[in-house]
Amino acid sequence: MAKSPSKSATAKTGVPRINIGISEKDRAAIAQGLSRLLADTYTLYLTTHNFHWNVTGPMFNSLHAMFMEQYTELWNAVDPVAERIRSLGHHAPGSYAEFGKLTSLADVPTTPPAALEMVRILVEGHEAVARTARELFPLADKASDEPTADLLTQRLTVHEQTAWMLRSLLEA
Ligand SMILES: [Fe+2]
Repeated sequence: MAKSPSKSATAKTGVPRINIGISEKDRAAIAQGLSRLLADTYTLYLTTHNFHWNVTGPMFNSLHAMFMEQYTELWNAVDPVAERIRSLGHHAPGSYAEFGKLTSLADVPTTPPAALEMVRILVEGHEAVARTARELFPLADKASDEPTADLLTQRLTVHEQTAWMLRSLLEA
């Protein structure tokens, strides 16, 4: 069994301060921006999964399958965003209360909308997440935070492409 360390040993082996070449102020501001991106991504994930369950009508098969592909991608995307926040020395938000405060997206409608209205809501959702990611870009760039800039680039590519594909369903 490991002996509990004495006070001096604790001081000697204390956790070193984060020193990765990004100032404490910039790390805090970037983590805050990433927390908003995490909340937006999680909210859009939940909305898309909800629509996968509740979609009805003649387009059921294709929309049900397309929504599954999209919510799976969003579900996989929340983890790298949260872990980047941790790498910057901050806690990742992960509760409905925090996400509700941080997100720029509206909550999922209580009554399931018609199929094409679902598509419209998702277009707006993907565009909103893209705006949140883009807003953070100048700060990540200024702080030479390449890992965050790289993550934002990847997320922007996905959200803008998905918004285009969904919007195409609404065009005559
Ligand atoms: Fe399913």
